[in-house]
Amino acid sequence: MKKIVILISGRGSNMQSIVNAAKAEQWPAQIAAVISNRPDAEGLIFAHQHQIPTAVVVSKNYPDREEFDAALLAQIEQYSPDLVVLAGFMRILTPQFVHFYAGRMVNIHPSLLPNFKGLHTHQQALQAGVSEHGATVHLVTAELDHGPILDQARVAVLPNDTEDSLAQRVLEQEHILYPRVIRQIVEGKMELSA
Ligand code: GRF
Repeated sequence: MKKIVILISGRGSNMQSIVNAAKAEQWPAQIAAVISNRPDAEGLIFAHQHQIPTAVVVSKNYPDREEFDAALLAQIEQYSPDLVVLAGFMRILTPQFVHFYAGRMVNIHPSLLPNFKGLHTHQQALQAGVSEHGATVHLVTAELDHGPILDQARVAVLPNDTEDSLAQRVLEQEHILYPRVIRQIVEGKMELSA
């Protein structure tokens, strides 16, 4: 069984889609823990309800990014994961942390990378007037939203789309895309090399 640790900061709907798919599709993998940097992350409730170990590492308890990342890494390592999954984890990670998990840490970003890195991606897409938008699963490398692309999901941008309506349709696709990619990784059908 491969061990997966999922990092969240909030709602955790992508984490939920992964937990549900792993169970329904009987992946050769176990969600070893869900770890949040925010004690009030809603997703922690779902993890508790599903008997998944949880932990919280609060950034403001550490003097700097290096010490926070060291504490986070120590917490993650308690579960000896094969794969670290960032699912709405809203922290920029230090190069040392990223290097430690090189080739075994993935992220989902709500745009068709390399377009629209960073925050407010749906607003960026509407402002740019693109006809297609979507989500990307990529390996995490030191530069934000730059790692090798593993897979993408596309949605058409509709004439009346608002930031919310577009976000909603992209999120529906994220919930299909992210479990699909992670399943391929844990089943050894997708090679990861950073
Ligand atoms: C998702 O849109 C994801 O792509 C982005 O942050 C959002 C997290 O949503 N990185 P959730 O916490 O998984 O519901």
